Amino acid sequence: MKIAHFSDVHALSLDGVRPWQFLNKRVAGYLNLRLHRGEKHPVRLFRAIVDDLNARPVDHVVVTGDLTNLSLAPEFKLAREILDQIALGPKGVTVIPGNHDVYTFGALQDKLFWDVLAPYATGDGKDAVEFPVVRVRGEVAVIGLSTALPSPPPLADGWLGRAQLEKLDEALAAHDGKFRIVALHHPPYTNRHAILRGLRDRKKLQRVLARRGAELILHGHEHRDLRVTIPGPRGPIPVIGVGSGTYDDERPERRARYNVYTIEAGRLVSVETRVHEPSAERFSVHATPTTDLRPATP
Ligand SMILES: [Fe+2]
Ligand SMILES: [Fe+2]
Repeated sequence: MKIAHFSDVHALSLDGVRPWQFLNKRVAGYLNLRLHRGEKHPVRLFRAIVDDLNARPVDHVVVTGDLTNLSLAPEFKLAREILDQIALGPKGVTVIPGNHDVYTFGALQDKLFWDVLAPYATGDGKDAVEFPVVRVRGEVAVIGLSTALPSPPPLADGWLGRAQLEKLDEALAAHDGKFRIVALHHPPYTNRHAILRGLRDRKKLQRVLARRGAELILHGHEHRDLRVTIPGPRGPIPVIGVGSGTYDDERPERRARYNVYTIEAGRLVSVETRVHEPSAERFSVHATPTTDLRPATP
């Protein structure tokens, strides 16, 4: 099976947005966006990923959050419109939220992610979005978590909470034997600026994973390719963070990208990173080995 993974597309749309909507945390975010981000995550690169996916079909797509910048309704609408172009359809694409998708308490109350992206985040046999979202596709079980919470600036941290961790524990036990892919926005270990940007209950998550196991963990948030392992009951579990899907940058290691994982007989056999080449307006492949991953700092 082939699983594609992209993240942090940060689709920008300010259509119909009125200034009063920025009288809170969004003021800072909005200014930052206008100064740095608007041009850095062009929507055309989000569309380019979708075109590339449709030209080179995979079996499932996982999107690990930060689809928007400021959790605005037009941004969710734009993200939905572009996701709807993926030929696999919502059952073939699993989307989880990032911190930018619940940027304010208002955004959390409005439940825009839960409403607009529901077809992409509803688990098998469910009629509403509920985390963890569990979707079984062939030999793969995708288990999507929500770490998103509206922290005041300058925080960009994440949190799972006890209820979600208990349900994750159950889902991992129930699908032992499948190739279990756990998807979350924040890295599940201590990364740089962990106090400001990290997953608060990462140690609790690590304990669940160490007990129940998983075959692959996918995340975004850092806008960088990160590859480590964390302990599992039957050996190290690979943890793969993918860079932003839309970052328009000169540096090849930061440029817009997505990953394709090949899974055979219950094993991750290859990771292909498809990097956008601005001069050619296409993606080219950077295959990397899945061996020699170093253990993460817990
Ligand atoms: Fe992001
Ligand atoms: Fe993020």
